[in-house]
Amino acid sequence: MYDILIFVSEGISMGLEELRAECLKCEKCGLCATRHNVVFGVGNPKTDVLFIGEGPGENEDLKGEPFVGRGGQLLDKMLSVVDLSRDKNIYIANMVKCRPPQNRDPEEEEVAACRQWLQKQIEFIDPKIIVCLGRVAAIRFIDPNFKVTKEHGQFFEKDGRLVMGTMHPAALLRNPHSKPAAMEDFFALQEKIKEICPGTYDNI
Ligand code: URA
Repeated sequence: MYDILIFVSEGISMGLEELRAECLKCEKCGLCATRHNVVFGVGNPKTDVLFIGEGPGENEDLKGEPFVGRGGQLLDKMLSVVDLSRDKNIYIANMVKCRPPQNRDPEEEEVAACRQWLQKQIEFIDPKIIVCLGRVAAIRFIDPNFKVTKEHGQFFEKDGRLVMGTMHPAALLRNPHSKPAAMEDFFALQEKIKEICPGTYDNI
């Protein structure tokens, strides 16, 4: 039985690693012309909790990892308060895998071209909870009219998963007065994780 479990969980990460290898070659939209690296995603592929941001910035483009700039440092701090970490018990991905020039919002066609990668990541990881960091992810996964300022921190059931939207870390850097409200969202997330996927907190 144990062997079967190991086989199944290795299958998940194998599948995701094969997907990453394909994604690194992607030329489905114009962002491939200016990127240094494809930023596929990072974390524990066996997690129940997936965070989705918008798209890589300059630091992420250079390093090939999501949320490694100032916003990422803030995100990691907030995660650590609720015992979550990209090294242990969550996965972090973006709506688009390549940096939009000058950090502009990704265009509709770019998000659409990249959708298949994120969709397959979601299928492989099969999270119980998705956290949308900012509007671009929230309007795709929760509601096209989602208002982060009004509806952050609430859980919505979508396609058999719970989805919550909260403030993007870059927005928190611009508006530090929103940090306490965003932290409340993370505490609500922690409670929800304890309720529906307590294994997330095993062995951390
Ligand atoms: N902003 C995002 O949305 N994603 C990153 O990876 C970095 C900054």
